[in-house]
Order: sequence, then structure tokens, then C-alpha cells
Amino acid sequence: MTDAMVAAGAKRYKAMCQHCHGGPGVRKSEWAKGMLPQQPHLPEVASEWKANEVYWLAKHGVRMSGMPAFGPTDDQLWEIAAFVKRLPGMTQDTYASFENSSEVTVSMDRSLPE
Ligand code: HEC
Repeated sequence: MTDAMVAAGAKRYKAMCQHCHGGPGVRKSEWAKGMLPQQPHLPEVASEWKANEVYWLAKHGVRMSGMPAFGPTDDQLWEIAAFVKRLPGMTQDTYASFENSSEVTVSMDRSLPE
């Protein structure tokens, strides 16, 4: 996994995942705190997951929970997975140094639940 992939994934993570899962030095959004089951703080649990498992979870969402399935492309999902694998131990400064994404990268057209 290249650093370019991780950086691209960081942008997507901040746009799509941070509000529920938080990040180094970033707490999840107020509205997400009321959700049950509670979203795990990913920087703490990400080391338990392999990149392909993160990819799978992000692709399908966690069924029967609040976690939606997203509509990014496979390449984008791998970037996110690459980034999530770097989260454990990442400092606040490193996390903050990744670019924020203002572009909306989520396309919902192919992620409607069956
Ligand atoms: C709407 C809120 C929400 C968003 C957005 C969200 N998640 Fe989740 N996620 C959850 C919840 C809730 C769980 C826990 C499900 C459970 O325990 O049943 C979860 C669980 C996970 C897990 C499993 C962690 C564990 O140890 O149980 C991973 C990995 C994960 N999410 C990755 C991601 C990634 C990557 C993104 C961005 C592409 C993302 N999530 C976006 C709500 C969200």
C-alpha cells in the first residue's frame, strides 16, 4: 500500500467515516453518539482488522446496525482500507495533516439496500 493510497484514503475517511468513527484527536459527531449499537472508535480497534476486512466492512456496511453501505468504487474502498490500517498509533498531528475533502465522493446510486 503506497503513501499516495493512504493519503487519498485519508481524504475519503474524513468525508465518509470520521463523523461516526472519529479519528486521532477527533471525536465523532454529537448526533452519532446517540446511535446504537455504538460505533467503535476506529483508531483503537483498527489493528484487529485486516485491510481486506476493512474493505469488506466499508463495502457492505455492517448489516443490521447503523453502519450504511457506501457507494464508492473498489479503488476508493481500498484507499480507505489502506488508511484505516494506518490509524492505530497515528498521532493527532499526522491525522490533521492529511487534506480534508470538501468534494462529496459518496455516490448513493448503487448502494441502496436490497
Ligand atoms: C452512520 C455511521 C457510520 C459511518 C458513516 C461509518 N460507520 Fe463503520 N460502523 C458503524 C457502526 C454503528 C459500527 C458497529 C456495528 C456493530 O458493532 O454492530 C461500525 C463498525 C465498523 C467497523 C468494525 C469495527 C469493529 O471492531 O467492530 C469498521 C472496520 C468500520 N465500521 C469502518 C468504517 C469505514 C472505513 C467507514 C467509512 C467508509 C465507516 N465505517 C463509516 C457506523 C458507521
